[in-house]
Amino acid sequence: MAAKTPKRPPAVAGLGVDLAEVARIKRLAAKPEFLRRVFTPGELAYAGKSRNRFERLAARFAVKEAVIKALDETSLPLNAIEVENTESGRPRVGVKGRPGLQLMVSISHTASYAVAAVIAFKA
Ligand SMILES: CC(C)(COP(=O)(O)OP(=O)(O)OC[C@H]1O[C@@H](n2cnc3c(N)ncnc32)[C@H](O)[C@@H]1OP(=O)(O)O)[C@@H](O)C(=O)NCCC(=O)NCCS
Repeated sequence: MAAKTPKRPPAVAGLGVDLAEVARIKRLAAKPEFLRRVFTPGELAYAGKSRNRFERLAARFAVKEAVIKALDETSLPLNAIEVENTESGRPRVGVKGRPGLQLMVSISHTASYAVAAVIAFKA
């Protein structure tokens, strides 16, 4: 039997990182318009359930900025970018209307700051 050709890992198209201040996001989140413009209903529901709501919102804000950096698309609406969590808590991120887009994300947050890193892969 012929040896299988090893599958090549997908090529990296871009990298983005962002740091968000939790107190700033908490201030902005007092405005319903900010919440509507930035977050999806699923993200608000995920953050709303937790005692660290503003950390989680700041983390999702950081993810969105990191996606924009990774894709180099500053005109992307923030609420078109959506973070979901698997049952284990692992985050994943996608962009509405772009099912083929492959992104990897990692998040960390404390009471003061949230950080996110995103890698975009070539289709
Ligand atoms: C999952 C884990 C790595 C998260 O780390 P943490 O320092 O507690 O918290 P951080 O703020 O750095 O990260 C939180 C984010 O990690 C992400 N996360 C959660 N589970 C994850 C998983 N299984 N894989 C990848 N990312 C995960 C989430 O995005 C979460 O933020 P969100 O809920 O707002 O989406 C950690 O809880 C864990 O399970 N560690 C295993 C080792 C351990 O138990 N150490 C403690 C020894 S005392």
